[in-house]
Amino acid sequence: MAKIFSGVQPTSIPHLGNYLGAMRNFVTLQDGNECIYCIVDEHAITLPQDPGEIQRNIRNLAALYLAMGIDPKRSILFIQSEVPCHAQLGWIMQCVSYMGELERMTQFKDKSKGKTSVPAGLLTYPPLMAADILLYNTELVPVGADQKQHLELTRNLAERFNNKYGDVFVIPEPYIPPVGARIMSLAEPEKKMSKSDTNRKATIFTLDSEKDIIKKIKGATTDDEAEIRYDREKKPGISNLLDIFSICSGRSVEELVNAYQGKGYGEFKTDVAEAVSGTLRPIRERYNNLIESSELDEVLDEGAERAYDIAQQTLKKAEKALGIGRISRH
Ligand code: TYM
Repeated sequence: MAKIFSGVQPTSIPHLGNYLGAMRNFVTLQDGNECIYCIVDEHAITLPQDPGEIQRNIRNLAALYLAMGIDPKRSILFIQSEVPCHAQLGWIMQCVSYMGELERMTQFKDKSKGKTSVPAGLLTYPPLMAADILLYNTELVPVGADQKQHLELTRNLAERFNNKYGDVFVIPEPYIPPVGARIMSLAEPEKKMSKSDTNRKATIFTLDSEKDIIKKIKGATTDDEAEIRYDREKKPGISNLLDIFSICSGRSVEELVNAYQGKGYGEFKTDVAEAVSGTLRPIRERYNNLIESSELDEVLDEGAERAYDIAQQTLKKAEKALGIGRISRH
């Protein structure tokens, strides 16, 4: 039995990469583990957001977590900004971080590139993420490959704190799946699939209609050969579709490569589209029943309370170790 924590930003509807790389594992990890899942809205505002849109995205994400199979009887689901301990421990973790290590984060470099004014929150995002994880004595963090560097920093910050102030934090491990940890853009398969891609053909969102899913997969960039084989470097488009197909069909990449020997890309893409539609259809149906229900608010209210109970204990321990506030009141 491990303690699990992970989060997703409510910056849009989660895409197929978020689902295959992370969220589907949130669901399977519920068996036999203590899981806490978060809608990380404070992370989302590190870049400007439209207030009405982020409100809608928060509710959509909550409904999608449940639609994908998060069971609120077994797992805690809550909104980051409703548990103030995240911002509080986030500040403490910022004070343990060095500018140099934050500036080296690839995500910071990517997101700040070309900007004349870089929001400070973009730089201090990883210590807040460390706080999210450390508040819950987390042992395992299911994420996609793009979060690996943030996880390493989290471990470094926790170790640095523990060495200086005593054993307060559990050191977490990343859980990165062997297949699906880096789903690529359908339009430019050298780039990862991303919520912010301006090319509408690049990304499949988990609430896309059947028609859109088929259109996007049929239009996916491949190569000039006619052979279906797995080679991330020479055949990034086909390899990406093989990864997606493998997870959505439950068949191994090897089995699929054998099954599609001598068959054309057209037939292959039709079958990939069907597998993806089949995977997303029940999620979309459950989402439609949940989005207007009051159940959602009950789950989030209870989630915030349960999360707070755990988080405030760790926060107090950290404050006590640092000697801030009145220790006699801890
Ligand atoms: P976010 O919201 O960008 O993405 C949510 C999860 O989806 C994974 N992911 C992908 N996996 C495979 N292929 C892709 N193309 C792809 N794109 C995204 C991400 O790795 C992630 O697991 N910083 C985090 C949110 C966060 C968090 C945390 C995560 C905040 N605090 C604490 C874990 C623990 C983020 O921006 O994820």
